[in-house]
Amino acid sequence: MRIDLAVIGGTGVYALGELTDVETLQPDTAYGAPSGPIRVGRLAGQRVAFLARHGEGHSLPPHKINYRANLAALKAMGAQRVLALNTVGGISEHFGPRVLACPDQLIDYTWGRISTLCEEPGSDVLHVDFGDPYTPALRRQVIAAAEHAGVALVNAGCYGATQGPRLETKAEIARMRRDGCDLVGMTGMPEAGLARELGLDYACLAIIANWAAGAGPDVDEVITLDDVLANVAVAMAGVPKILQRLLTA
Ligand code: HPA
Repeated sequence: MRIDLAVIGGTGVYALGELTDVETLQPDTAYGAPSGPIRVGRLAGQRVAFLARHGEGHSLPPHKINYRANLAALKAMGAQRVLALNTVGGISEHFGPRVLACPDQLIDYTWGRISTLCEEPGSDVLHVDFGDPYTPALRRQVIAAAEHAGVALVNAGCYGATQGPRLETKAEIARMRRDGCDLVGMTGMPEAGLARELGLDYACLAIIANWAAGAGPDVDEVITLDDVLANVAVAMAGVPKILQRLLTA
């Protein structure tokens, strides 16, 4: 089967309503089962696979997601391009709620997650190049698609991947800002690193749901799931337009 694009949905994105002729697959992999069923259908005349990273009912916290199985399953289905939708908090000025961004860098603050395919005895040790953690060519395609579709998108940024599932303290966000992070999310790693090990083209389309702790104009604002989901729903309006363009370019 050929898949023109695989999309992994994050918090608040549990389906791609625009898919037609949908087939539901439940693949298994050498690493176990993915987060949930993979829906394969058509969008803009192309074959698109969609997987909800946290499971369809958001049952998996970030550190329990089987990132290896998710990516291995998409690769085994014939996907080469993976677009990761990640719901994130914004840290720096241009990354406020309801903004879309396509980061070009990341810093990994996660711990204790299986972050490589080189775990099993006898597997080859891979030291993949990761200087540019997101595939530059796919990023360019995403940025061009957004431009052509007339959807505002911040075309750079550094994604800080935290462990979760709790949100960060103000001090943690202040440190991340000093480190150079523009965005904070809990699922960017090990996903990006595993995609590189698997030889997949991988880019992140970040959906900014809230100001990270202490980063917004109201430093004492409490982040609620309701606000996160409401902002994701607004920002998601632009995503199908970007996908359409990406698939027809
Ligand atoms: N921090 C980490 N992950 C997130 C946030 C946040 O503020 N918002 C949405 N995902």
